[in-house]
Amino acid sequence: MTQETDWQERYQIKDTPWDKGKPAPGLVDWLKKQTLDPETRVLVPGCGRGHDASAWATAGFKTTGLDLADLALSDARKRYKSVPNLAFLRGNFLDENPQEPFGLIFEHTLYCAIDPVRREDYARSLLNWLKPDGYFLAIHFIFPLNDEGPPFGGSREEIINRFKPNLKLIEDWKPSHFEGRKNEEWMFLWQRIS
Ligand SMILES: C[S@@+](CC[C@H](N)C(=O)[O-])C[C@H]1O[C@@H](n2cnc3c(N)ncnc32)[C@H](O)[C@@H]1O
Repeated sequence: MTQETDWQERYQIKDTPWDKGKPAPGLVDWLKKQTLDPETRVLVPGCGRGHDASAWATAGFKTTGLDLADLALSDARKRYKSVPNLAFLRGNFLDENPQEPFGLIFEHTLYCAIDPVRREDYARSLLNWLKPDGYFLAIHFIFPLNDEGPPFGGSREEIINRFKPNLKLIEDWKPSHFEGRKNEEWMFLWQRIS
């Protein structure tokens, strides 16, 4: 049985503890030293109110934030309306296909937020949205898997085993983190190989 979360309702009742009102510190650090092709098109699935997507666009990348929740998207569009190269789309990362796949997917607390029984669907969907040689940059929550989420947690090993059939792990590390998330965030950079 899957555990569906009503994300629109979470935004409606303002029960959004994951939202820190700014981009993830690990992403901010990474963007300062990245050497990507400036033409890389970026997708941020589960973008919520758009803080991370806005950081990508501000760094110069054509960026699409994707989310299921209309309320999150309307907040994102309002707050970041002056940021160029940034679009917010309503869509389901697990069930839809893009018209054109992306050169990089950045994820932050989407994988840990979806029901663990759908994690293989997530790994499959990633291949629909990502170009054959594209990058997957992720900040995952690392703590014991539980069934009381979201967030549901997971381990570094589980994540590596999940994605390694189709992606090569370039690097993984402990990033700078939001207050209160010490030892909970782990960052991974992958490149698709098949
Ligand atoms: C825990 S929140 C994280 C939001 C954002 N990444 C952040 O850190 O502020 C998870 C987000 O993923 C969205 N979401 C959940 N399942 C999704 C799916 N299948 N496709 C697209 N978005 C999804 C939710 O609406 C919610 O905004």
